[in-house]
Amino acid sequence: MIGNIVILLFVIGLVVLFGWLTYRTVRARRRWIKIVGGLLAGLMTLILAGVAFVGGKGVATVYFPDVLDAPDLTVAGTPEQITRGEYLANLSCIGCHGAVDAEGNPSGEQPFSGGWNIAAAEGFGFVGNMVTENLTPGGKLAGYSDGELFRALRHGYNKEGDMLGFMPLLPYAQLSDDDTEAIIAYLRSLPAVEMSAETGDKLNFVGVAMLGAGMFGTPDPGSASVTAPPEGVTAAYGKYVATYGECRGCHGPDVTGVAESAMSPAVPNPRPMVSELTQEEFFEMMRTGVRPGSGPFPETMPWQNAAKMTDDDLAALYVYLTAEP
Ligand code: HEC
Ligand code: HEC
Repeated sequence: MIGNIVILLFVIGLVVLFGWLTYRTVRARRRWIKIVGGLLAGLMTLILAGVAFVGGKGVATVYFPDVLDAPDLTVAGTPEQITRGEYLANLSCIGCHGAVDAEGNPSGEQPFSGGWNIAAAEGFGFVGNMVTENLTPGGKLAGYSDGELFRALRHGYNKEGDMLGFMPLLPYAQLSDDDTEAIIAYLRSLPAVEMSAETGDKLNFVGVAMLGAGMFGTPDPGSASVTAPPEGVTAAYGKYVATYGECRGCHGPDVTGVAESAMSPAVPNPRPMVSELTQEEFFEMMRTGVRPGSGPFPETMPWQNAAKMTDDDLAALYVYLTAEP
């Protein structure tokens, strides 16, 4: 944080310096200095002013956001909540927050000790580090109140009130209050695991500027209270399954595909293909990772999330994907 603010102040200093230089060259007596110098210094001033503007916006967005107070909340931690939280977390969070192997790659397995540098792994390491957190009570969440943890999941701020780099881009703002609390209950119930690697965000000036400019996507601000649709084999509930199953995070809010962006290549619309399948074939595909007729899913398509779903959840997902979006 301090480093990026110092860089911002330095850039602002350069804007002033080049602005002054422009003024001086334009007033120079020799004509060629006036024209060439004025143009060059003027251009530099403009470029630097642009960098200062975007960087300033980034610093304001990330370090000084309009952060809401964490709700006053105590999660009861009933056995039902823990069971539900276990289902959800092992379906979705574990892909990123599971243990890492010796090379720092995620195993998708327990414990929830984190340590995966997703920025470096996914080819946007030029923004700095975004390392998944240790979600067990052995990590920094031990120092979070239930309300602060709820706010992190719903609105994407850490305890200090800084904007998180990656989490707000995931669809968890749309998890219901009950499911968010269930996840908190489960995480609190885990055995504490120590993790020595540094976790969390360490964004550089470029990363902060890009985040501020919304180049990674616009985070969902999240509302104070979210209720899930009634559980059942319906398109409405299937859409909710596609939220915590993360399908919507990659395939777009309506699971109709997304175009290429600065962050990721294009993701196809799975609906036409799924509509060709019977429910049985869909179950088979999502549980084995093998598409009928065209071989296994590539690694870019994490079918493992769906493979861990209950029959009812998968059936709801099928209804949703074969209904009108
Ligand atoms: C696609 C990868 C990914 C998934 C899936 C994911 N996370 Fe994260 N998480 C991250 C990264 C990266 C960070 C580090 C901070 C950042 O960049 O947002 C993080 C940080 C966190 C933090 C620390 C926030 C803080 O205050 O510093 C919590 C808590 C958390 N995640 C919980 C969860 C839970 C619960 C789930 C599942 C419901 C989940 N995450 C799923 C990538 C992920
Ligand atoms: C991390 C991003 C990501 C997530 C999460 C994700 N997908 Fe995908 N999915 C992809 C990509 C990328 C492809 C294209 C793979 C390829 O190149 O063939 C794909 C392909 C598919 C296809 C095949 C489409 C076709 O026409 O061949 C289906 C079906 C599908 N996804 C369904 C789902 C469902 C259901 C979920 C949620 C349980 C889901 N996906 C979650 C990235 C994702």
